[in-house]
Amino acid sequence: MNGLAPSGRMRFITVAVVLCAGYFCSTAFAHPRGEWTKLILTQHWPQTFCSMEKQCKTNLSYWTLHGLWPNTGVRCNTSWHFNASLIEDILPEMEKVWPDLLVPSSPEFWKYEWQKHGTCAAKAESLNSEHKYFSKALELYSKFDLNGVLRNNNIVPSEEHYTLDDVETALINVYKVKPKIQCVHPGKGGQVQTLGQIEICVDRDFQLINCEKSTEEIWSNDILVSGKSDLSVCDHSMPIYYPPVPSRS
Ligand SMILES: *[C@@H]1O[C@H](CO)[C@@H](O)[C@H](O)[C@H]1NC(C)=O
Ligand SMILES: *[C@@H]1O[C@H](CO)[C@@H](O)[C@H](O)[C@H]1NC(C)=O
Ligand SMILES: *[C@@H]1O[C@H](CO)[C@@H](O)[C@H](O)[C@H]1NC(C)=O
Repeated sequence: MNGLAPSGRMRFITVAVVLCAGYFCSTAFAHPRGEWTKLILTQHWPQTFCSMEKQCKTNLSYWTLHGLWPNTGVRCNTSWHFNASLIEDILPEMEKVWPDLLVPSSPEFWKYEWQKHGTCAAKAESLNSEHKYFSKALELYSKFDLNGVLRNNNIVPSEEHYTLDDVETALINVYKVKPKIQCVHPGKGGQVQTLGQIEICVDRDFQLINCEKSTEEIWSNDILVSGKSDLSVCDHSMPIYYPPVPSRS
């Protein structure tokens, strides 16, 4: 059955060991149960989000949470159901910073995020309950204070445009790592992209690390239950519009 002569077998082992020194093996074996190595804290700008959805109106003028996503796995435990009463003590904050923009005051968005991403994040002991998972997302949201960081660096919603460098530099100066900045790209002939979503990445110890472009394809279509995302990494060569909240009149 085993056709490899001893020397052939040796060569095979050598090749395997060499391959194993690289990234693939470090991620494959460092966490043998397929556990994640990175979490992506994703926040979206409500005005931009609602501009992509029909049934959506918002007057929120701060970035809100979209999700906290591990870099591996989706729907890791379909029998682990979301139960809002387990996070009762943090519901007021959840409603404020992680609102369902499509169905205000509904827990559906949290349920969806829990089933899709939370049950995978929960493979780590630090996040192995609904309460731990959602509390950690709120904690990271406050700690990294995206709203404050942008405002303090004069990146504010405006009819003026920014460059991707403006936004990127503001974030990198504070976080010291590369975030992922996503825009809605204009249709054919359009000249301006619209700032939509920002991802900040942390390791298993919740320390900031660079986000990588390669996760783009995996996650960019993760927009709520019904919608579909038109977001992708912002373009360096096109001005960025950061839409203000329309004034009520
Ligand atoms: C936003 O809308 C809500 C609900 O309609 C309202 O209660 C709130 O006062 C509004 N906030 C601002 C800043 O306009
Ligand atoms: C899935 O979740 C259920 C409910 O919390 C739990 O009893 C079960 O052990 C989990 N399964 C795995 C494989 O973690
Ligand atoms: C949700 O959690 C509460 C509090 O632990 C518990 O009493 C209730 O039975 C749970 N509901 C479901 C549907 O599991």
